[in-house]
This record gives sequence, C-alpha cells and structure tokens, in this order.
Amino acid sequence: MELQEKTAIITGSAKGIGFEIARTFARQGACVVLVDRSGAEKAAESLKNQHYDAIPVSLDITDMKAVNNAVEAVANAKGHIDILVNNAGIIARGDILDLSREQWLQVMDVNVNGNFYFCKAVVPYMIRQHSGSIINITSIAGKMGDITAAPVYGTSKGAINTLTKSLARQLAEYGIRVNAVAPHAIETDMSADWTNDKRQEVIEAIPLKRMGKPEEVAEAALFLASERSSFITGEILNVNGGQLMD
Ligand SMILES: NC(=O)c1ccc[n+]([C@@H]2O[C@H](COP(=O)([O-])OP(=O)(O)OC[C@H]3O[C@@H](n4cnc5c(N)ncnc54)[C@H](O)[C@@H]3O)[C@@H](O)[C@H]2O)c1
Repeated sequence: MELQEKTAIITGSAKGIGFEIARTFARQGACVVLVDRSGAEKAAESLKNQHYDAIPVSLDITDMKAVNNAVEAVANAKGHIDILVNNAGIIARGDILDLSREQWLQVMDVNVNGNFYFCKAVVPYMIRQHSGSIINITSIAGKMGDITAAPVYGTSKGAINTLTKSLARQLAEYGIRVNAVAPHAIETDMSADWTNDKRQEVIEAIPLKRMGKPEEVAEAALFLASERSSFITGEILNVNGGQLMD
C-alpha cells in the first residue's frame, strides 16, 4: 500500500472527483479527512463501512477560521498531515455579458481563496515534518481558457496553477512538493447540466472520444501524493483525453 500511515485532507470530497480521491487514498492505507460544506458525514460513513479510516469535517472552505480550526484538530488527532488535496470547486456558466460581480466574487472566493486558506493552514505542519504533498485540482480551462464555463472559472483555475508553481518553488527547501491535476470533461454533477448536443460537441473535440471518470483523476492524484512522484514538483498534470497537449 502506497499511503500507509499517511494522513490526507481532501476538500470537496462528499461526492464526485473528491470522493473518488478519498476512496483511492483510503484503499492505499491513508487516513482520509473528508472536508465538504455538505455530505461529509455520509461520505465518511460509507468509507468507514468498508473498514477504511475516514474522518468527516463539515465546513465551507471560504471560512478561514473554520479551516484553521479543522486543520489544527486533525494535526492534534493524527500527529501529522502528509497530503492536502484542494479539490473543492464551483463553476459558473455563460459569457461575460451574463456574469455578475457576485458570481465572479463567489467563484474566486471558493476556487482561489479557499485553496489558499487550506495551503496556509497545513504548510506550518508540513514544514515541521520536513515533508508533504499538496495537490490542487485545477482544470484544462486554467491553461487554455474556458470551453464550457463562464470566464471566471478558467481565471480562478489559472490563479491556482500559478499558486501551485509559486508554492512549489517556495516550499521545495522544506521537502514539500506542490503539484496540480488539470482534468477536463469528467462525469460528475459538475458536467451533468450539459445538453446532449453540448456533450457530443465536447466529446468530439477529445481525441480519446469519451468523457473521463472520477477514478481516472484520482489515479493521477494518487501518483502525485505518493513517493512514485518524489522528483516532481510544480507540475500541472493533464487528465483530459488528449484535448490539450502541452
Ligand atoms: N467534472 C469536471 O468535468 C471537471 C473538469 C475540470 C476540473 N474539475 C474540478 O474538479 C474539482 C471537483 O469537481 P467535481 O466535478 O467533482 O464537482 P462536484 O460538484 O461533483 O463536487 C464538488 C464538491 O465540492 C464541494 N464544495 C463546493 N464548494 C465548497 C465550499 N465552499 N466548501 C466546501 N466544499 C465545497 C461540493 O459540496 C461538492 O461535494 C473542482 O475543483 C472542479 O473545478 C472538474
């Protein structure tokens, strides 16, 4: 097992990609902390029923105080925090003409600020341990601009890409690696509102000619969390069926 004895915090893990990351890490022996604004208890319960080590934390990642308290409680309970996956995120649809200031601020608050709060909270523990792996779930939109979302979504993911590289540079001396996974067109609730025509259009543009599965994103996150990627930091790994090759 690749993550034996490790403690991993995964945000937005009540469902979708985050839940699959939690399940994949738990199967590899990690104690997984499932953070979500709703559904964390139920998700953790389903893992505990399969005899995995899972801790639910109900909070909104835009609440910095709640984030700090939760990270402190996990560190006190487990003694170490080895992995952080910043996965929680929201999307907005439409073009700039439809996009309100409130939507802009809300998407930036969750996708960028929430990510920053968690990084800031765990880094002191990782520095003390002189080890850690931070993985940010970004998007193809952060590299090539929005395809299916409002322009704030790609902007927020672009900010996460830059944060990933900045932290990778600043934290390398403490043995902390910081990487990202950039998915596209994964079967979750986030892509469930597409019309059939939109879906076909999206699939047509993907060389592998299909949607991706949450498990396929989770495998990429596992690789970046594990020692198999020990010389990789500042990387933004595509999981996109070949839509963007960079
Ligand atoms: N599904 C895709 O096609 C796709 C593609 C590219 C990137 N992504 C990214 O992958 C990540 C996961 O997406 P998903 O498709 O699983 O979405 P999802 O909507 O199925 O799940 C997102 C989870 O995050 C939680 N969440 C949202 N805001 C939160 C907040 N403020 N505080 C706490 N929890 C919060 C939700 O409750 C939910 O459980 C997101 O960052 C998303 O941008 C998804």
